[in-house]
Amino acid sequence: MKTYIVTGGAGFIGGNFVHYMLKTHPNDKVVVLDSLTYAGNMETLASVADNPNFLFVKGDITDRDSVNALFQREKPDVVVNFAAESHVDRSIDNPGVFLHTNIIGTGVLMDACRKYGIERFHQVGTDEVYGDLPLDRPDLLFTEETPLHTSSPYSASKASADLLVLAYYRTYKLPVTISRCSNNYGPYHFPEKLIPLMIANALNDKPLPVYGKGENVRDWLYVLDHCKAIDKILQGGRVGEVYNIGGHNEMRNIDIVKLILKELNKPETLITYVTDRAGHDLRYAIDPTKIGDELGWQPETKFADGIKLTIDWYLNNREWWENIISGEYQSYYEKMYGGR
Ligand code: NAD
Ligand code: DAU
Repeated sequence: MKTYIVTGGAGFIGGNFVHYMLKTHPNDKVVVLDSLTYAGNMETLASVADNPNFLFVKGDITDRDSVNALFQREKPDVVVNFAAESHVDRSIDNPGVFLHTNIIGTGVLMDACRKYGIERFHQVGTDEVYGDLPLDRPDLLFTEETPLHTSSPYSASKASADLLVLAYYRTYKLPVTISRCSNNYGPYHFPEKLIPLMIANALNDKPLPVYGKGENVRDWLYVLDHCKAIDKILQGGRVGEVYNIGGHNEMRNIDIVKLILKELNKPETLITYVTDRAGHDLRYAIDPTKIGDELGWQPETKFADGIKLTIDWYLNNREWWENIISGEYQSYYEKMYGGR
């Protein structure tokens, strides 16, 4: 039996990972450490709250004393760090908290790993650390050797964290791995991000704000496939290595928005083109050859199926997202989109 500390487990991908791990590793213990920022939601974990192998601890990854106390108490074998400020637009508005959580928090966790000893520290990274690719060169993909070249305070903070993780490997021999994944979608996705925002607005017959001309391209991966890839890396990945994870599923934003409207039987007149994001990355596309060859991971969920599953989830779990958009989210929305 192993003990996993999963930071950020009340967020989108961390929450899906907790459900996945408790189901596929029923003898292991999953301890979530999450400070419950605006993006953390206990409702996401409600269905596992009574599982004897699950423990939730409210705490901040930048708080050294409480992180150390948790490690001393739980003696984790593995730490998977999902905890982060994750939204690019918020990082443009207010970078400071991104540097604090994403960089300092990662350092605090790794110091605790060194102090108490662990089998593996896994850093959940992003393809945004590679910057962007041109729209007219479909032959170009991000590999693990692509130089880091960041655009936003968010991606710069995630790249800094990755460098720190690799430094702890080289200097202290901390057994680390890093994954860099493309855009995820699926259940429990906070409705500030493209896909859940468009689903929620369409269901409420509100305008769908598309940045610029909607021609930016992202490589979308169903969240469960990401969870499976991280599990593969934890079980068989080589320490000190970076693994890219991606869906081979590049799509333009505008095509995703139109698809969502079609699935929901809503008119395209809801689409509203708004001022572009500052420094907006044009295109992301991952080459996942390494994780495929070394660990046998492949994306399993086709986008056509994954988007239907996702829309169905939002239709069947209205309370989850309606609770979010009825609160503090209103002032966020007004600030971000009011004068756009
Ligand atoms: P999210 O914003 O939905 O969730 C983040 C979680 O971290 C929340 O539960 C929040 O409460 C918690 N958190 C934030 N600051 C904390 C702190 N200081 N201490 C403890 N907990 C804290 O994020 P997500 O979309 O699930 O992303 C998870 C990770 O995956 C992030 O590291 C992100 O960079 C990375 N990632 C995300 C995507 C994507 O498409 N969403 C793709 C690739 C990588
Ligand atoms: O690539 C991985 C990254 O994907 C993760 O590291 C980030 O945590 C995650 O948020 C995501 O970043 P993006 O910036 O790509 O995701 P977002 O959903 O914010 O935007 C996707 C695209 O849609 C992007 O080109 C901007 C555009 N967009 C977004 C919003 C919120 C719009 O056109 N309108 C919107 O209202």
